[in-house]
Amino acid sequence: MKTSDFLVIGSGLAGLKFALKAAEVGTVRVLAKRDLLEANTAYAQGGIAAALGPGDDPGSHIDDTLACGGGISHPDTVRLIVESARDAIQHLVSLGVPFARSEDGELELGREGGHSERRIVHAADATGRAVMLGMIKAIKDHPRIEISPNHCAVDLVLERKVRKGADGFRCLGAYVLDSESRRIEAFGAPITVLATGGCGKVYRYSTNPDVATGDGVAMAWRAGCRVANLEFIQFHPTCLYHPDAKDFLITEAVRGEGAYLTNLAGERLAIDHPLGDLAPRDIVARAIDREMKRRGDRHVLIHLEHLDPAHVRVRFPTIYETCLRHGIDITRQPIPVVPAAHYQCGGVMTDLEGRTDLPGLFAVGEVAHTGLHGANRLASNSLLEAAVMGERAALRALADPLRALPVPEIPDWDAGKATLPRESVLIDAHWEMVRKVMWDFVGIVRNDHRLELAARYIEILRKSIENYYWDFVLDRNLIELRNLALVAELIVVSARRRLESRGLHYNEDHAARDDRSFAADTVLQPAPAGSGALG
Ligand code: FAD
Ligand code: SIN
Repeated sequence: MKTSDFLVIGSGLAGLKFALKAAEVGTVRVLAKRDLLEANTAYAQGGIAAALGPGDDPGSHIDDTLACGGGISHPDTVRLIVESARDAIQHLVSLGVPFARSEDGELELGREGGHSERRIVHAADATGRAVMLGMIKAIKDHPRIEISPNHCAVDLVLERKVRKGADGFRCLGAYVLDSESRRIEAFGAPITVLATGGCGKVYRYSTNPDVATGDGVAMAWRAGCRVANLEFIQFHPTCLYHPDAKDFLITEAVRGEGAYLTNLAGERLAIDHPLGDLAPRDIVARAIDREMKRRGDRHVLIHLEHLDPAHVRVRFPTIYETCLRHGIDITRQPIPVVPAAHYQCGGVMTDLEGRTDLPGLFAVGEVAHTGLHGANRLASNSLLEAAVMGERAALRALADPLRALPVPEIPDWDAGKATLPRESVLIDAHWEMVRKVMWDFVGIVRNDHRLELAARYIEILRKSIENYYWDFVLDRNLIELRNLALVAELIVVSARRRLESRGLHYNEDHAARDDRSFAADTVLQPAPAGSGALG
């Protein structure tokens, strides 16, 4: 058994912020499922929202966040996180993150959908990578931080399972698969932090990297934690549509600089919002979906050809180069784009200090539900949330009395009858089926019939996976598949409970917003004893 004072599962911005703070007093181990940089954070393009510009103020940022959240964001959470933005940016600047600056040396602020002001702090169009490199530099040589890439957490360790007869119900760490040695080992810690990011891969088309399989939500659910608002999956309107391009985003910031959307006939899209092409994402994604269905087209177009080519190349170098590699010169040709699953607005329920229902377990970043995003996340508010909550949770964890309680010896992983070698055809087919059902039946526009079908199919798939899961020698792919199917089921259950349309959840059989019955979070509670069933 390996031990540390803090076990951080996830190496994105939320996990690394936690680690850096916690390492001021204790030893920290950070797990990453693959390479350290393989996290949603590293792919972030647009930037981090902060009301820093002249004429802007946190009150306006709060108003935009609440408006985008469709009436169910938690105002206290919104205020706290938005008002912490200046400090969060300042901290990243102090670590050397090279945010873009204007000639007078001030931070250059971009514009994105749903924001009434220019307030996106960015590093060209590769903000997340710049942030990650700054954070990694800070933690890499830290004497109290140990980093374990290619380590995949399988499940949380619960005290009552370790000490027979103990009624204690705290988290003692996790069982972790070392993908290189293929061994599963116990990692014990009095404080464990889920910083595992989102679940974009539950959908067939996504902007997310392969690590985003909802592991944190699934592990927390199996451990008995409540989850909230999982029906609110954000679809980003503009993912590059090209047969050879995998999951490449075209940042909303291009629309902030004047890019616009058309159908394949060159007609502007009908977007029913005063901000037009810069409306919040739910509205733009639905307009694209509607237009593609109306015309039978496979994609729409985003145009930058009318913008100054020199500015486009400097402001969006990653997009320019990537599109060029795929034969598209964005200074002369429109870019084919489609919506794709992008962000999980709900997650494991936490308080404003990152605490979950399970003592000793915290959750921060995209995996967590703090109440910030409500029914739809405002652009560039998630890196902000990850930075603020990573640090807040660490401050709380440092003071947690559980830190003083010793972690008992955790028994070795019981592989049981898991002897069969990987059977790719079985596992790959289930991956495909889960993601296809979710894309076709639980996508941008939903209805009762499709949701009912999804519920039936996903339940069958989840049970089938659960049945063979314990027969095979575990590998990352199988661990992820089990989690993916469980999270898919939780999304469908949540979506079926919300008999209205609000924010990202649009059901054409209940097309109006119903504030009398549904102006609240959708909270799911697991059955007692961590059976994984609904309570
Ligand atoms: P992540 O950065 O996703 O990190 C998750 C970590 O958990 C990874 O290290 C992963 O390996 C690890 N992990 C997962 N499961 C396990 C497991 N079982 N065991 C061990 N480790 C595990 N937001 C903005 O605010 N502004 C933007 O401009 C922006 N642009 C985006 C562009 C793209 C293409 C994408 C995909 C997202 C974008 N977002 C943006 C959203 C934002 O990047 C994420 O919400 C945020 O980075 C999440 O950070 P995190 O630390 O919570 O998780
Ligand atoms: C983008 O750059 O368009 C993504 C921003 C975000 O997800 O907040």
